[in-house]
Amino acid sequence: MERTIVITGGTSGIGLALARHHSERGDHVVAVGSSQTGGRRLRAQAPRARFVQADLSSVARTTELTERLTADHPTIDALVMAAFRYNPARVLTSEGFEHTFALYVLNRWLMASGLRPSLDRAAAPVIVNLCGVGQGGRIHWDDLQLERRYRALDATRQGARAAELLGAGYRSERIRYVLHNPVFVDTGLHEPFRQPVRGLVRVAAALFAQPVGRAVPPITAHIDRPPAAPLTAWRKARPLTLAIDAQEAARLDDRLRTLTSPILTPPTLTPPTLTPPTLTPPTPA
Ligand SMILES: NC(=O)c1ccc[n+]([C@@H]2O[C@H](COP(=O)([O-])OP(=O)(O)OC[C@H]3O[C@@H](n4cnc5c(N)ncnc54)[C@H](OP(=O)(O)O)[C@@H]3O)[C@@H](O)[C@H]2O)c1
Repeated sequence: MERTIVITGGTSGIGLALARHHSERGDHVVAVGSSQTGGRRLRAQAPRARFVQADLSSVARTTELTERLTADHPTIDALVMAAFRYNPARVLTSEGFEHTFALYVLNRWLMASGLRPSLDRAAAPVIVNLCGVGQGGRIHWDDLQLERRYRALDATRQGARAAELLGAGYRSERIRYVLHNPVFVDTGLHEPFRQPVRGLVRVAAALFAQPVGRAVPPITAHIDRPPAAPLTAWRKARPLTLAIDAQEAARLDDRLRTLTSPILTPPTLTPPTLTPPTLTPPTPA
């Protein structure tokens, strides 16, 4: 039976390799990316997949996307979240969020909740969050947007820890939540850097990173045979034990609600109070 698989970041790297694999196998793949260049790459390598262009760093655009996908696909079997960008310097989105936080945390929280109704209708639904699970990052509770001191690695590690908490906070009877760290995969990791770091990362990737094709089978295994447990974590094909504090997961959920509520539920306009005009009695002639 044809399954529907939504892949954010399905136009490059690991996401594209998954899009190609599953569309060649006869699944209906919907790949989301922000650029037309990515869309062309997808059409060339996975012509049966559907391309949807959306800026996933935007809360408003992500919400529009989940509404559109829910309308187009009443049943979704798998959601793979692979959209990511490494930001060497601090970048703000048009909605005022730090970009890594917007794409790695807010977007993944919104995608998983927005597509929940369609996932709930599938026979064996699964969410695969591709992330740096097990890296030991922390949430900067007093400075989530890293305004005081931005370091790209801190932003990335905070996103990885947030992914663990999003998984722990996602309570569903039926939908399996899988945190998967593909580890070091050669997907053009040098591109965001300037020389000389660019050259060093390129050499390190050539020497030590896995080719993209090798990262695909363990991820596909989660999609084909979702694990029995509601939440699992993996480093390549090996299961990981996670230490997650349920209270911290609830705290993140609360903060994300607060941060997004002005965008998701704009304040209703209170009609101005109308003061009836005071009628001055006509002056007798
Ligand atoms: N590669 C590794 O070594 C490694 C290690 C650990 C974890 N991971 C995780 O694995 C996942 C995939 O990594 P990768 O290396 O394959 O990534 P990649 O090759 O850099 O691809 C990133 C994808 O995200 C999309 N994207 C970026 N910004 C977007 C936006 N604002 N809106 C919509 N789409 C956007 C890109 O498309 P556009 O450019 O068209 O927007 C592209 O399709 C990521 O979640 C990453 O954290 C990777």
